Amino acid sequence: MTSARRIEPEYLDILAQDEPRAIRSRRDLRRINAWMLQPRIMARLLQTRAATPPRTILELGSGDGTFMLRVARRMAPAWSGGTILLLDRQDLVDDATLDAYGATGWSAQPRVGDVFELLRRPLGRPIDLVVANLFLHHFEPAQLAWILQRAARLAPQFVATEPRRGQVPLLAARMLWTIGCSRISRHDAAASTRAGFRGAELSALWPDREDWAVSEHPGGLFSHCFVACRQSRCQVS
Ligand SMILES: C[S@@+](CC[C@H](N)C(=O)[O-])C[C@H]1O[C@@H](n2cnc3c(N)ncnc32)[C@H](O)[C@@H]1O
Repeated sequence: MTSARRIEPEYLDILAQDEPRAIRSRRDLRRINAWMLQPRIMARLLQTRAATPPRTILELGSGDGTFMLRVARRMAPAWSGGTILLLDRQDLVDDATLDAYGATGWSAQPRVGDVFELLRRPLGRPIDLVVANLFLHHFEPAQLAWILQRAARLAPQFVATEPRRGQVPLLAARMLWTIGCSRISRHDAAASTRAGFRGAELSALWPDREDWAVSEHPGGLFSHCFVACRQSRCQVS
């Protein structure tokens, strides 16, 4: 599939967060993340691209917080002792997840609100790294450009793991019934794939390219990776 990105509503963004169908779909999402190897891909990008362990990480569209928890577990003990700000417009992070962060040596702080509101206001602390997983594909190019511009102003490093747009990921999304995912999750996975990325689509939207090292490439079979580092702050491989 080389057709243009198509951004469609996803059920998980529309259903009330305590609706049983949404609860089941978030459970499916944890399984889909594992199946796509997203935590492993993100951890590998962080290990190889970030020059120094960050003290404060901001995750955009963090959902229930369990994606970065898995990443934190993979990064410990080399990376620990810092704070992860979990930004999402839904209030989904439970106490058990916050306690589990504590066990990795990280402290997690939920920030509930819309990304377009919260990124306009000061976050109250310097940010070393901004990350996003299965989040950027929700947005049209103009919105994406705004988010990336804000991220570039906030921190010297940005890493995203998103769905890859293509026939193989789309086929895999349709086959998610084989691992027990609901109709809602299958719909959202296929919609995410059609809105996903390929080539250098995110690099093209990154601001101020002269001062940044930017790289964009496929990750595994289903993922699309984007890394941007301020030239002085990162190792690019
Ligand atoms: C597909 S989920 C991914 C969640 C998490 N990154 C993960 O991998 O488990 C996308 C998340 O983005 C959040 N989201 C979508 N639009 C948003 C916005 N405008 N501001 C803040 N969060 C948003 C949704 O609430 C949802 O939790």
